[in-house]
Amino acid sequence: MRIVTIIGARPQFVKAAMVSLALKEHSQIEEIIIHTGQHYSDNMSAVFFRELGIPEPHHNLSIGSMPHGAQTGQMLAAIEELLLNIKPDLMLIYGDTNSTLAGALAASKLHIPIAHIEAGLRSFNRQMPEEINRIVSDHVSDILFCPTEEAMKNANREGLNEEKLHLVGDVMFDAAIHYGNLAEQQSSILSQLQLSPKKYILSTIHRAENTDNPQRLTNLFTALIETAKSHNIILPLHPRTKSALLANNLFEQVKQAITLIEPVGFFDMIILEKNASLIVTDSGGVQKEAYFHQVPCITLRDQTEWIELIEADWNILVPATQMANLPSIVRRRMHHEGKKTNLYGAGEASKKIAEICVTKI
Ligand code: UD1
Ligand code: UDP
Repeated sequence: MRIVTIIGARPQFVKAAMVSLALKEHSQIEEIIIHTGQHYSDNMSAVFFRELGIPEPHHNLSIGSMPHGAQTGQMLAAIEELLLNIKPDLMLIYGDTNSTLAGALAASKLHIPIAHIEAGLRSFNRQMPEEINRIVSDHVSDILFCPTEEAMKNANREGLNEEKLHLVGDVMFDAAIHYGNLAEQQSSILSQLQLSPKKYILSTIHRAENTDNPQRLTNLFTALIETAKSHNIILPLHPRTKSALLANNLFEQVKQAITLIEPVGFFDMIILEKNASLIVTDSGGVQKEAYFHQVPCITLRDQTEWIELIEADWNILVPATQMANLPSIVRRRMHHEGKKTNLYGAGEASKKIAEICVTKI
C-alpha cells in the first residue's frame, strides 16, 4: 500500500512529522515523501527534518519562490510526472498552501484518491490565497480529515459528502505534546536571548494580507513599535516580512524597537511560545500553539479560521481598522486566561488518520 505525501512549507513539516510517525505503525504502508521546495532556506525547511526526525524526502522538486500561478503550475507538472511512475494508492495533502493545491490538482486529474489533512477550514475571505487553496483541495479530496467541529460544519454547508468527513482532532496538538519534552531538553533559546519566562511578548507576522499592502504593513509595525515602548517583543522574522520591511524602508526602525531574530527551529519555537506572557501573530499554527501552551493570543487579522479559540476567549482578533489600539489591547490581554476547554482532540489525530487511511485504501 503506497501513500504519497506532499509537503513544501514550514507548517506542513510539523504536521507531516506526526502523521509520518503514525503511518510507520502500519507495516503494510510505504510512504513516499515529495517536497515541492516551496520553502528552501535551512531555517524554513531542513531544520524541521533534522529536529523532528522526518524521513528525508524521496523527491525534492526544488520549485522555490515565484508568483502563485507559475509556482503552482510548475509543482503540478512535476508532481504529475512523479505520480505516473509511483502509482500511489493514496495522496496525503496538508493545509492550504500552493503545494497543497498543486498536489490536489495533480492527483485528482490522475484519479488518485486524496486525503486532505486540516480540511474544512474557512476564513470566508477569498482575497486570501489560502482560502482558494482550501476550497479547491477539499472539493477534489476523497477523505477529509477535519480538526474541529467548526470545520465539519463548513464542509457540510458546502455539500461535501458526509461519508468523506472525519472529525479526528488536530495533528498540531499531537506535535505540541510529542515534541514538548524534547524541546525542553534541547532548546537553549531563552538563555541565548537572555529572556526570563513570562517577561516578553512573542510575535510572528507573515500573512500576505499584512505584508503586501504597504499602508497596512506600516500601520501594523507602527502599532508593534508603540507596544514595544512598554514590552519586550521578540519576533522571529519570516523572509516574506523581511523583504517587505526592507522594500518599505521600515526595517531599521523596526529593528531598533523589537528584537528581530531569524526564523527558529520548532524546538526553540515551542520554548519561546510556552514562556511568553502573550503571543501576537497572524499565523494559523501559532494561534493554536498559543492555546496548547495556555498563553493568551492576539491575532492581527480581520478573520480567523480557528474561531473556537475566540469563543473560548484565548484569542482575540485585532483587525486592520483597530490596529492603532494594539498597545491598550495588549495591556488588557497580558496574562489573560480563557476558558478551560479541550478544543483539538486528545493528541491522537495522527493515529486516527493513519488508521482510517489503512481501512479506506
Ligand atoms: C506560504 C503559504 C502560507 C503559509 C506560509 C507558512 C502559500 C500561498 N502561502 O507563505 O499559507 O502560511 O507559507 O510560512 O502557499 N522565502 C525565503 N526562503 C524560503 C521560503 C520563502 O527566503 O525558504 C521568501 C521568498 O522571498 C518568497 C517569500 O519568502 O518570495 C514568500 O514565500 P512563499 O512560499 O511564496 O509564501 P509564504 O509567505 O512563505
Ligand atoms: N514556527 C517555527 N519557527 C518560527 C516560526 C514558526 O518553528 O520561527 C512554526 C510554528 O511553531 C508552527 C508553524 O511554524 O508550528 C507555523 O508556521 P507559519 O506561521 O509559517 O504558517 P501558518 O501556520 O500561518 O500557515
